[in-house]
Amino acid sequence: MTDHSQAMTAKYRQDYRAPLYWIDSIDLDFQLQEPLTQVTAISRLRRNGEHNEPLVLDGEGLSLHSVRVDGVPFTQYEQGESSLTLFNLPAECVLTIVTLLDPAANTALEGLYKSGDAYCTQCEAEGFRRITYYLDRPDILARYSTRITADKSQFPFLLSNGNKVDSGDLGDGRHFVQWQDPFPKPSYLFALVAGDFDVERSHYTTKSGRKVALEIFVDKGNLDRAGFAMESLINSMRWDEQRFGLEYDLDIYMIVAVDFFNMGAMENKGLNIFNSKFVLANPATATDSDYHGIERVIGHEYFHNWTGNRVTCRDWFQLSLKEGLTVFRDQEFSSDLGSRGVNRINNVRTVRGPQFAEDAGPMAHPIRPDVVIEMNNFYTLTVYEKGSEVIRMLHTLLGEAAFQAGMRLYFERFDGQAVTCDDFVQAMEDASGVDLGRFRRWYSQSGTPELTVTDEYDAESGVYRLHVSQHTPPTQDQPQKLPLHIPLDIELYDEQGAVIPLQYQGKAIGNVLDLLEAEQTFVFDRVAVKPVPSLLRDFSAPVKLHFDYSDEALAFLMRHARNEFARWDAAQMLINKAVIEGVARVQHGQGVELSQTLLAAFVAILDDGELDPALKAEILALPGEATLAELFEVADIDAIHQVRNEIHTSLAHAFGARLTATYESLRLPAYQVVHADMAKRALKGVVLGYLAALDAGSADLLVRHQYATADNMTDTLAALQVANSHLLPCRSELLADFEGKWAKDGLVLDNWLRLVGSKPAEDVLEEVKQAMAHPTFSIRNPNRLRALVASFAMNNQVQFHARDGRGYRFLTDLLIELNEVNPQVASRLITPLIQFKRLDEGRKALIRTELTRLANLEGLARDLFEKVSKALQQ
Ligand code: TRP
Ligand code: ZN
Repeated sequence: MTDHSQAMTAKYRQDYRAPLYWIDSIDLDFQLQEPLTQVTAISRLRRNGEHNEPLVLDGEGLSLHSVRVDGVPFTQYEQGESSLTLFNLPAECVLTIVTLLDPAANTALEGLYKSGDAYCTQCEAEGFRRITYYLDRPDILARYSTRITADKSQFPFLLSNGNKVDSGDLGDGRHFVQWQDPFPKPSYLFALVAGDFDVERSHYTTKSGRKVALEIFVDKGNLDRAGFAMESLINSMRWDEQRFGLEYDLDIYMIVAVDFFNMGAMENKGLNIFNSKFVLANPATATDSDYHGIERVIGHEYFHNWTGNRVTCRDWFQLSLKEGLTVFRDQEFSSDLGSRGVNRINNVRTVRGPQFAEDAGPMAHPIRPDVVIEMNNFYTLTVYEKGSEVIRMLHTLLGEAAFQAGMRLYFERFDGQAVTCDDFVQAMEDASGVDLGRFRRWYSQSGTPELTVTDEYDAESGVYRLHVSQHTPPTQDQPQKLPLHIPLDIELYDEQGAVIPLQYQGKAIGNVLDLLEAEQTFVFDRVAVKPVPSLLRDFSAPVKLHFDYSDEALAFLMRHARNEFARWDAAQMLINKAVIEGVARVQHGQGVELSQTLLAAFVAILDDGELDPALKAEILALPGEATLAELFEVADIDAIHQVRNEIHTSLAHAFGARLTATYESLRLPAYQVVHADMAKRALKGVVLGYLAALDAGSADLLVRHQYATADNMTDTLAALQVANSHLLPCRSELLADFEGKWAKDGLVLDNWLRLVGSKPAEDVLEEVKQAMAHPTFSIRNPNRLRALVASFAMNNQVQFHARDGRGYRFLTDLLIELNEVNPQVASRLITPLIQFKRLDEGRKALIRTELTRLANLEGLARDLFEKVSKALQQ
């Protein structure tokens, strides 16, 4: 149930005040029972300094049973809509609050709720206040003990944070378990789970010899899907010791997989709760990219134990302190274990696509926001992914050794505390001696900086100059922008592709240039020939780069650049140029024409015998339509779609007979989850797509064959994706077969839902509506919903943006329903409706009509209110 009376007031970062009371410990008692669960919370309070202010506790949707102070019934309180105010408390006291909850009715999946038959919790960011009245803010660090009582046969496992200290039977079919967490923590890291599970067990011995029990809890019958998650957990523990010197600190680490979860996973101390999507996998059910996702998220939550839990956030404006840093750490983990180049490419795709779109939209905010209405709305690509880019820039500026020295100083200073982003940067600055004065602006300034680079070569003197200017366009939240400290990683090549050393007047210059001013010129001498510059190597800063490359220069970089990322990036630039030209031609009634240079460069990639097939696959996969739309002031959705398809077809013709030969060469023996094989499967999928563009008739046979003979989900889905995106004759037959096979397995069926949502045909909405009637679909399950609806609204540009507005209407109708069921998920799905800046006037008007419908909705949740009202201000 949504609480319709929540205040829509904004909170400001600058208004931070230390809490008026501290809470040193809290003893929780849960009586899990139907219909209502009873929660008793006994908190030890300590007034912060001399004052007579009342204690204002947070509470949301709670039914209050009783209040006691030092064991005596207490009446000097006032209950507000979302608060409990207690007057005239002694300087120190024990506060006992009893509340009643209805977890089965909790569809928002925040606080205590039921996922299937199990009870579980989600407290970040402000969910603990749905369990009991509390100072629900991350700078209140308390020691928790938790006693859980429940029916023993229904709920044999009763879990919470820390160590199990007691358990027993109560005679009446009920039992209890008592947990104690030795580490003081903020309320958002509290967790409780009760249910019946299969358990995958292992252990890990830390570098100092502590033996840690590892337990992964999955739904009964799913034990054969837990092995990879366990392997990833052990790899995470080892990697954090080796790369960051960080060791685990409790005797037990538990992970519980649940089917109903709003996000990816949650790092609750000692008891992570995961969306089952990021735990369950075996070769029959999971794709290679599912495996990568599991490794990444298991790592991410594990790494939070230090960056987030041991050192936490002072307030929620500092969210990127833990999230940006932890995303950086999980990216490094994936890169150290797998392919650094491919990981970098995929991370950059996310920043350049959806994160840049966020900057350009009505929700633009700095990685450390200044104003928030609903905190759940700030778990964003900006805070997470751009936040990670900011950490990565620090790493680039300081180097690994000084960066790690900064990390050590950070933990020395702040272990056990709730701190700010400034505290982190200060530790980095103090440990390294690098001046980060101007760099700090990355935390306060929103938007995407644009770099414009021009070059100048004087053959006579051998001097080469790079003129670099930076400019950040205004964003909806911030009209004025300042120059930033931007690390610009470059390399210069001669005609043969040899590296030209960077130097000036006898002094070597490093590859990373420090751009600090609005305009700067970098001078190099002893440059014997006019060089080809490789700029912003490895995406050394989250900016847009403008440099007037010729097709020839980009083709040259695709071949000669010394780093995998730069080769991919050159290919992207080449395609982007072709799309911009192609759209202009299509708009003038002409066809798309590709330069011979472009075609030859891509053919050379396919022919390159040295290149990792995974990288080949990345280079040959064209950018998505939504990402391409970002290239235009006004994006012509239909023309972009057409041009992208024509480029795909032209490339297919240029590849010609190589495609079949390549496809055949990529056959593999029995399925294995190893990089070399994953790389080949990725390339095989891309090649199959080109084959379909070349000749739909023979591709139909090939796709049927691949589908029929695949021994793994990656190949199965690659076949289905090609059938779907090219509307091959086999499409409906294969999709029906897949649906029949996996009808009862939600996670696998999500793949089918995604295919349905992204069908590139006018009748897609009819199929989407039919899929919503599927017995395994439920709008209460965020995975099912996102699979079907996000694929339509975010991955099916032409149909979602249909000129009669039916796509917008469909999404809005659904959001109105979801507003009651799960506002947090509604607020994520609304994204394509609020990012309409680049659309034409006709579509903008249609969207405004739908947003106005939402704005006028009675009981609009805070989550949607914040986004809708900002979007309508555009
Ligand atoms: N801290 C979680 C993470 O690892 C994010 C998260 C999980 C979350 N569930 C949530 C945030 C619910 C808000 C609401 O990134
Ligand atoms: Zn996180």
